[in-house]
Amino acid sequence: MSLRALIVAGGVFLAGAASAQDLPQGDPAEGRKLANMCRTCHGIDGFAKIPIAPHIGGEPAGYIAAQLTAFRSGARMHEMMSVVAASLSDRQIADVAAWYGAQQVSASVPAGADPAPAPCAACHGEDGIAVVEDAPNLAGETNIYIDTQLKAFRGGKREHEVMSPIAAELTDTEIRAFADWYGAVELTITSPE
Ligand code: HEC
Ligand code: HEC
Repeated sequence: MSLRALIVAGGVFLAGAASAQDLPQGDPAEGRKLANMCRTCHGIDGFAKIPIAPHIGGEPAGYIAAQLTAFRSGARMHEMMSVVAASLSDRQIADVAAWYGAQQVSASVPAGADPAPAPCAACHGEDGIAVVEDAPNLAGETNIYIDTQLKAFRGGKREHEVMSPIAAELTDTEIRAFADWYGAVELTITSPE
């Protein structure tokens, strides 16, 4: 599939992502309280505390809400997150997504590093901060997390109109190289005050 076709497919997915868009408007202050349920793994500001958990601070609120909805419905599965999401109401998902989505992120590519992987930068950015609304930031995620997700898309355990066909084309060596590149980017998360 050409990159243009993939970007068009991404737009179609955006229009079709109804479940998260139907959620109520989130209240970040309520979400801040709920984040106590998340802090041991993701931190209060969304900077992860354990290597298998992703940094979620500053991800688009719509992306966070969509993933929580997917864990709750079983469309995406994980032994920890499926349990956490099962207990969340629509309002709580909207609130906690609003809190984490309101964090500010910045990324710094290490001096001398290669440019961002070419097939990925159109959506995930030159520094790993996403440049399309429905895509997550990859900057500073651990290589373990990125490797796991790409293999989940490739193997069908996680599905997405845009990422599944992209991952299907990747070799283990490419997955490792891309995961290492994003993992080496330094991510900073700052809470809005
Ligand atoms: C016990 C640890 C733990 C707790 C508590 C936890 N998470 Fe997670 N979370 C994880 C792990 C591990 C993953 C990665 C799942 C995977 O590999 O698919 C994850 C993934 C996610 C993702 C997907 C992010 C992405 O980039 O796709 C979101 C969103 C998320 N968690 C939000 C939350 C919220 C909100 C809470 C609190 C209400 C929470 N989590 C509580 C461990 C945790
Ligand atoms: C056309 C846009 C587009 C391109 C190109 C693209 N991605 Fe994605 N990527 C997305 C979207 C959208 C998602 C969110 C998928 C979902 O909602 O489950 C995503 C999700 C991911 C995730 C999961 C991150 C997380 O936090 O769970 C990883 C890892 C990823 N992409 C890596 C890559 C890599 C590596 C490349 C290049 C080989 C790439 N992507 C190219 C749009 C894109």
